[in-house]
Amino acid sequence: MYSRILSTGHFVPERILTNRDLEQMVNTSDEWIQSRTGIRERHIVSDGETNLDLCEQAARRALEAADLTPQDLDLILVATTTPNQVFPNMGVLLQERLGGHGYACFSLEAACAGFIYALSVANSMIQTRQIQRALVIGGETLSRITDYTDRSTCILFGDGAGAVILEGAEEAGILSVRIHADGMHKDLLYFPSGISQGFDRLRGKRDFIQMRGNEVFRVAVNTLCQIAQETLDAAGMSPDELSWLVPHQANLRIIEAIARKLALPMERVVLTIGEHGNTSTASIPMALDVAVRDGRIQRGQLLLFEAFGGGFTWGSALVRF
Ligand code: COA
Repeated sequence: MYSRILSTGHFVPERILTNRDLEQMVNTSDEWIQSRTGIRERHIVSDGETNLDLCEQAARRALEAADLTPQDLDLILVATTTPNQVFPNMGVLLQERLGGHGYACFSLEAACAGFIYALSVANSMIQTRQIQRALVIGGETLSRITDYTDRSTCILFGDGAGAVILEGAEEAGILSVRIHADGMHKDLLYFPSGISQGFDRLRGKRDFIQMRGNEVFRVAVNTLCQIAQETLDAAGMSPDELSWLVPHQANLRIIEAIARKLALPMERVVLTIGEHGNTSTASIPMALDVAVRDGRIQRGQLLLFEAFGGGFTWGSALVRF
């Protein structure tokens, strides 16, 4: 038994934060942001809008594309670092929104690699015949944990959600998937507070994403080049067989370095970083859905997903679409 991607969907909030807007907020420039990151604008939630709202719309689009109802699912798995609440988990909240009942729902947190982790888990559950069909989502409202007075981080992040429906199949859709983590660099990219440390610690202040960007950049490039090759090797495939690289959209220069390493022309890389910025777990399924809906990605093509995030966590998946 294998799993394959049946359909995709994504959603971004209406509000757009451009580089020009950021010029009014911190000491930066459109030129600096574009040349260092490739980002022109990002979508962010408005007051009262939440991650669950974004996930719901992405899920509805994926269900519609597959012509399925929420009750046709056996699992909802949401990868996120910015859940609406600690519990019920985001999967359960989403199931209730969609009107589903009874099947398993959970969320997992693996920072920006979360979608690959979720894909790996759902794929294993399908392969072992625990379930037949899963809604796998990456959804984030990073704007809620971003410091808009810190120019080294606030230029990067955006909000959005992306969804795929995975289904059991006789022929392989997901050919190989690899996930890794190492806490050695936990201090390079992190969010400092959490429930168990107690709210008193904050003394009424808010915490924000902390990052040493330059060092993250170096580790990300090396690690992602290795994981891409590992995932291809696991399926006995080579980079020249790839139709598309669908990378986590963190920084255009990181993506270019990986494409160079794989000897893949940039025309075969799906890029949404210019319009979406870094949306963490949401970026791969969002980019995938954009390229499926505009007709670039076709059935039968070979896709490589790869992602890297705080922890560090990282992973990659090779998919026959
Ligand atoms: N506008 C203008 N200048 C800025 C700036 C901004 N938004 N942010 C930082 N700078 C300045 C720095 O203060 C520094 O100035 P100095 O030399 O006077 O000290 C200079 O630009 C260079 O800073 P540096 O951090 O070396 O820049 P960089 O080329 O590494 O780019 C990032 C910074 C954050 C864009 C880049 O490191 C990056 O994208 N890293 C990866 C982050 C990432 O992907 N994280 C998520 C992983 S999932």
